[in-house]
Amino acid sequence: MSALSQVRYKVRDALRRDRTFNHTIIESDAYLQGTHSVHPNELDVSHGPVLYLEDISVSFDGFQALNNLSLYIDDGELRCIIGPNGAGKTTMMDVITGKTHPDSGQVFFGQTMDLSQMAEHDIATAGIGRKFQKPTIFPEHSVWENLELAMKTDKGVWHSLFTVLSAEQKDRIEEVIEIIGLQALYFSKADLLSHGQKQWLEIGMLLMQDPRVLLVDEPVAGMTHQEMDRTAELLTSLAGKHSVVVVEHDMDFVRSIANQVTVLHEGSVLAEGTMEEVQNNQKVIEVYLGE
Ligand SMILES: Nc1ncnc2c1ncn2[C@@H]1O[C@H](COP(=O)(O)OP(=O)(O)OP(=O)(O)O)[C@@H](O)[C@H]1O
Ligand SMILES: [Mg+2]
Repeated sequence: MSALSQVRYKVRDALRRDRTFNHTIIESDAYLQGTHSVHPNELDVSHGPVLYLEDISVSFDGFQALNNLSLYIDDGELRCIIGPNGAGKTTMMDVITGKTHPDSGQVFFGQTMDLSQMAEHDIATAGIGRKFQKPTIFPEHSVWENLELAMKTDKGVWHSLFTVLSAEQKDRIEEVIEIIGLQALYFSKADLLSHGQKQWLEIGMLLMQDPRVLLVDEPVAGMTHQEMDRTAELLTSLAGKHSVVVVEHDMDFVRSIANQVTVLHEGSVLAEGTMEEVQNNQKVIEVYLGE
């Protein structure tokens, strides 16, 4: 292990939830005594990471899709996850979003929210948004209406479109339309958008819920180079305000946005570091990049 990776390993080790857990217990006591303001079910990132996956294992009919996977995502960071087909990248997102329950291990949102005990819908409401590969936009509605519907997911489509928006809600829609760069297409039917524009619209719909964490699985598949560049700008601009976790195979794209990169292989972390570090990692070259 290089000196740098040793330091990184130590930092990561120090961040493990079980290592910081005593502190959390003390805090929970403080909460019970009314001396601390964080409710156990509110997001508490006062000790760093926003997402903690620790020793997560998932198997499907005896096949080990995740194997003692440990991963920590910081508040506001942009993290790329790469790795060969079948490495467990999508399964990892399924565990975070509550679609798949781990056989063992812990998955926490902040210090206090145990995601393994929460239903998918509650996890989404708590602030973890996920973009699937196939956009789930409403094709017959305009860009504006799609964002409006995303803001009021608890109501039916017709009810939502007939309730009057507050000035604040309108401002938020306009703000998101600008973030996703579809200002010129306010009233266009979503079905008529290009492939890339549909993907950005879906990201915009997630943003209407103001998620703390955004998970995006293979966002640039099928995009033109121009659309990829625009997506890189978009995701980079979201980091800071949101934590963004991007799974992607396109290495040029990863290189264009990557800060920290995690390489998964056979359900575990094979390497972690800057793009340059993982690209030069012999194990990574053997199992993935050398293909
Ligand atoms: N519901 C399931 N039932 C059975 N096997 C599954 C299920 N979901 C995933 N797997 C298996 O688990 C392994 C990990 O799959 P996963 O989809 O997480 O990989 P991935 O890293 O996202 O791959 P890709 O890059 O191809 O998208 C694969 O071998 C897959 O066949
Ligand atoms: Mg996948």
